[in-house]
Amino acid sequence: MKKAKMLIDRSFTVADVDKRIYGSFIEHLGRAVYDGIYQPGNPMSDEDGFRRDVLEMVREMQVPIVRYPGGNFVSSFVWEDSVGPVSERPRRLDLAWRSLEKNEVGLNEFSRWAKKADAEVMMAVNLGTRGIADACNLLEYCNHPEGTFYSDLRVKHGYKDPHKIKVWCLGNEMDGPWQLGHKTMEEYGRLAEETAKAMKIIDPDIELVSCGSSNLNMPTFPQWEAVTLERTYDYVDFVSMHNYYGNPTNDTLDYLAVSDDMDSFIRSVIATCDFVKAKKRAKKNINLSFDEWNVWFHSNAADNDRMKNQPWQIAPPLLEDVYNFEDALVVGLLMITLLQHADRVKMACLAQLVNVIAPIMTEQGGGKAWKQTIFYPFLYTSRYGRGTVLQPVVDSPVHDSKTHENVTDLSSVAVWNQEKEELTVFAVNRNIEEDLELSIDLRSLEGYHLAVHVVLENEDMKAVNSAAEEKVSPKTADRTKMDGQVSTSLLKKATWNMIRFAK
Ligand code: AHR
Repeated sequence: MKKAKMLIDRSFTVADVDKRIYGSFIEHLGRAVYDGIYQPGNPMSDEDGFRRDVLEMVREMQVPIVRYPGGNFVSSFVWEDSVGPVSERPRRLDLAWRSLEKNEVGLNEFSRWAKKADAEVMMAVNLGTRGIADACNLLEYCNHPEGTFYSDLRVKHGYKDPHKIKVWCLGNEMDGPWQLGHKTMEEYGRLAEETAKAMKIIDPDIELVSCGSSNLNMPTFPQWEAVTLERTYDYVDFVSMHNYYGNPTNDTLDYLAVSDDMDSFIRSVIATCDFVKAKKRAKKNINLSFDEWNVWFHSNAADNDRMKNQPWQIAPPLLEDVYNFEDALVVGLLMITLLQHADRVKMACLAQLVNVIAPIMTEQGGGKAWKQTIFYPFLYTSRYGRGTVLQPVVDSPVHDSKTHENVTDLSSVAVWNQEKEELTVFAVNRNIEEDLELSIDLRSLEGYHLAVHVVLENEDMKAVNSAAEEKVSPKTADRTKMDGQVSTSLLKKATWNMIRFAK
């Protein structure tokens, strides 16, 4: 059998995990809000119309921050439409998704939902069709205590206490030609700089995210980051990253290597931020907010057809990818990669959370809520991947795939939770033909014993879950043995594993 080794020492660390790396995203898109988190009249909904079963699953995932209200949606969003008496709110054309927005849920209702979900809101402002004044007014409405036009308006709307929203995104994917109000890097850099400057005068405690590239393959990457950050560097705290992954040619081995693409994307963005830092003789670092990441490709053709031929519907089913087992492996791999960069990736959002490229689905017409395959690697990584990411020495066999070279069979990360005295190793065997024996040397963690080995596996790479049947869910496995401070685990081919040790 092939063999891999991990040598772990608790003195060798990458960084503490910022829990906001386990964020997610709700956009006014498809059935994410209406029919997703909000469905008045459903017996499962609470007094505010929020689905209790969905909230329960979100809390189970321990999502600490949720990005809102878009996405592409935000780039033509008029926030004032979404506040005040619901009966007076206008219906609007949502140009991003060719849908009808009824504004029944707006930013006050969403803040209320987020509280119930034990999450903070990460708010995006419209820098597509709108600008500095609108962003400032929105911030004043949300965060200023009272005694000004917009803060008093919030109080009049029934929200005496400010929402105290800490994290603000300066627009969304402004480098993308599909974006309403798409800008050149020079135009965006200036607008984001001036918006950031004004917003930090209103509330110096906020954290700002400057728009990075929409994906690794954008022709303007990484020049976009270099030019825009030169403008925004002094005022912002993060640059955003977005990327979606897929398996359109049905090549599983190559698909399981896409986390290497995420790794090289992150490394390049760090290098670009640090290039601007050097150029400006700056002291602070810009951190990364990977605020849109996931698998997304299953639903593309159907969505294009629906938007073209059946436009202007309220909450049409859009981006409803049904995820299979190999997608869950990829989500597990992407989370390992994010954790490996915990020193610079301080926020990340699984895009999205409910019904739209989501781990949580609700049946159309008000039926059950159910968990997609990708729910599980997220759940376990979020719950147990908290503490300090360690820097292990790893030795693994490698293989090549169609478009990737030197892909390690083992992809892994170790997180030490000092408070709970637990060490958790997340490990995927990316080899789809051979099992792997992993030995972990825990030399500096004396007295630690095996707590549990959880595995996500399935003989059918294309197995999916549904409201009726859960074919893909994790199990505990008797595949790890300990001998003194060294453990040996069997990682079956194409499996996701969580091996936890406790004192
Ligand atoms: O998450 C779906 C969409 O993907 C978002 O609206 C947009 O920002 C990205 O292109």
